Amino acid sequence: MKAVAVFPKGREVKVIDVPEPRLRSPTQVRVRTLEVGVCGTDKEVVEQKHGKPPEGEDHLIVGHECLGEVVEVGEQVKNLAPGDLVVPRVRRPCPRAECTPCRAGYSDFCVTGEYTERGIQAAHGFCAELFVEEALYLHKVPRELRGVAVLTEPLTIAEKALREVAHVQTRMPWEKKEGGRAVVLGAGPVGLLGAMALMRAGFQTTMYSRAPKPNPKAEMSESLGLPYVSSKQHRVEELVKQRGRADVVYEAAGVASVGFELMKALAPNGVYVFTGVPGSEEGELDEGELMKQWVMNNQVVLGTVNAAPEDFEAAVADLGRFRAKWPGGLERLITARHPPEDYAEVVTGRKGSHIKDIIVFSRG
Ligand code: BGC
Repeated sequence: MKAVAVFPKGREVKVIDVPEPRLRSPTQVRVRTLEVGVCGTDKEVVEQKHGKPPEGEDHLIVGHECLGEVVEVGEQVKNLAPGDLVVPRVRRPCPRAECTPCRAGYSDFCVTGEYTERGIQAAHGFCAELFVEEALYLHKVPRELRGVAVLTEPLTIAEKALREVAHVQTRMPWEKKEGGRAVVLGAGPVGLLGAMALMRAGFQTTMYSRAPKPNPKAEMSESLGLPYVSSKQHRVEELVKQRGRADVVYEAAGVASVGFELMKALAPNGVYVFTGVPGSEEGELDEGELMKQWVMNNQVVLGTVNAAPEDFEAAVADLGRFRAKWPGGLERLITARHPPEDYAEVVTGRKGSHIKDIIVFSRG
């Protein structure tokens, strides 16, 4: 079968032919890959800044944002059947007995760093015609979400972040109101999905992103009823003047300098969520000013990576709600679909579109 793999040695990404995977235990499921999303992490994997092939192998099959269709289930699998649509989780737990998060089913909080991630860290991903997975790591998706469920995994980042924010903010027992104000940094797929999740949760949300207006991301944002402010045209101070300080800042740009600049927009008692992984950058930070701001305003700065099983369930449910709230909105976020042969050009941006690129393995 066809798969897309990165070969770190030759710095190559290409379509290869690999044997079809078979069920190896009664708890496994064989899945036909329908679609795989491409994101910034994939670019880092291809550029060898992040992730690695499985132990002893010279290549890594890429892809971690996946939608598939069950083709075969092991005899002990009761909750899935052939024809079901599924989204797989990405991370698998580390083997260490002392890692209480992994042992409790929360490998997103792994403390040893010995976890694996399909398509990223020492485990093959989903950019292949078929894959086999334990039923435990698969989430069932309703048929009506066929066209958009490939967005489940990037949405789980926001689901986990919002769940954490809600938890942190129980520190304010008097605060009973829904929502508040939010600013999202970066109008890429993670930012736009994050903004939709924030709006759904009742936050009055603003998108703050680099490109000056007009541009396709600004149009996309505004079509969702999400005001768009360009960081090229308006400094953070102006953003605050126009939109007020934010109870939640959701960073989804992965650029440290801009991320820290936006710290100025955080309201007293607010939570700042970092989701992006920045490359190396030189910058000037006023650490003293930041420390004073955090302490004097009871602020929380939260980093978040990966997601738990309940975040996948929440994301699937939210995709359904988003479709009802913004008809056609999720569909418009997917701005191009490509064949596997184009993966290298899509991931490096040569054939990439302006929001979300998807690789199509099967139209079934
Ligand atoms: C993925 C996460 C993963 C992280 C770090 C992100 O793009 O969505 O599942 O944990 O990269 O590898």
